Amino acid sequence: MDSRRLNYLRALDIDVWERRDLAVTQAASEPVRASVAAVAPPAVAVHQVAPAAVSRVVAPPVAAPKVSALRTESKPSTRVPPRDDAVAAMGWDQLVDAVRTCTKCPLHATRTQGVFGVGDRKARWMIIGEAPGADEDSQGEPFVGRAGQLLNSMLRAMGLAREQVFIANVLKSRPPGNRDPRVDETSACLPYLFRQIELVNPTLLLCVGRIAAQTLLETDMPIGKLRGKLHTLPSGRPMIVTYHPAYLLRSPVEKRKSWADLVLALQTFERLSNEARQAT
Ligand code: URA
Repeated sequence: MDSRRLNYLRALDIDVWERRDLAVTQAASEPVRASVAAVAPPAVAVHQVAPAAVSRVVAPPVAAPKVSALRTESKPSTRVPPRDDAVAAMGWDQLVDAVRTCTKCPLHATRTQGVFGVGDRKARWMIIGEAPGADEDSQGEPFVGRAGQLLNSMLRAMGLAREQVFIANVLKSRPPGNRDPRVDETSACLPYLFRQIELVNPTLLLCVGRIAAQTLLETDMPIGKLRGKLHTLPSGRPMIVTYHPAYLLRSPVEKRKSWADLVLALQTFERLSNEARQAT
């Protein structure tokens, strides 16, 4: 694994096992695939281990799903997600305006501004969070506070720059006191996120946190049961769930599980990209 990525993992307090043979031969610009294979999420310290010992240690704790199983890892909900035909027809500029000026739910009265989303509008990865917090509400950009710093580190550990992904929230307006979103608020706001997903057309969604995951998957299952597997949204979009960075700041012991989710996401992304390449 290249030293930069290893440093990020260390910065996250994530312990890494690395194959000694790979450590010696991998160049800094190696493709993501090599580092995914070299990282073992459940390890307990930063170590290099001899190849002979590796087969037991480096196997990811979550078996990477087969492409043919993509649709069956979790059952898509049969409920019809909220739809807004006007929003569903919008282009980027209209959508940005609509979010910034939205008054569809009571949150517009208490927010500083609508927080649209940020990043590459043609990104292959889309990161979905819950709602703006105080920093995001004042700066107008998602994930700019402490949780955002950790999210950036998580992305860098995956070999991704913040600018390479598109980041958006389920809610575009801050709930007062960062309380959980209410159903009327998510119903009013979800069409914006759905349109963002359609416009970006990412290969894979990475959903961070219980609230965003439960909202998108229309379930009340705990996040411990939602993470570590591939989901399919009713729209057919593949999505991996992991813990919210704010939760990881409070519960650093869960970072290892979160890293396992990120490894699964990288593996899944690679599979989907290969599948798409083969189909063309
Ligand atoms: N938490 C989120 O879910 N989104 C943000 O933008 C910031 C914190």
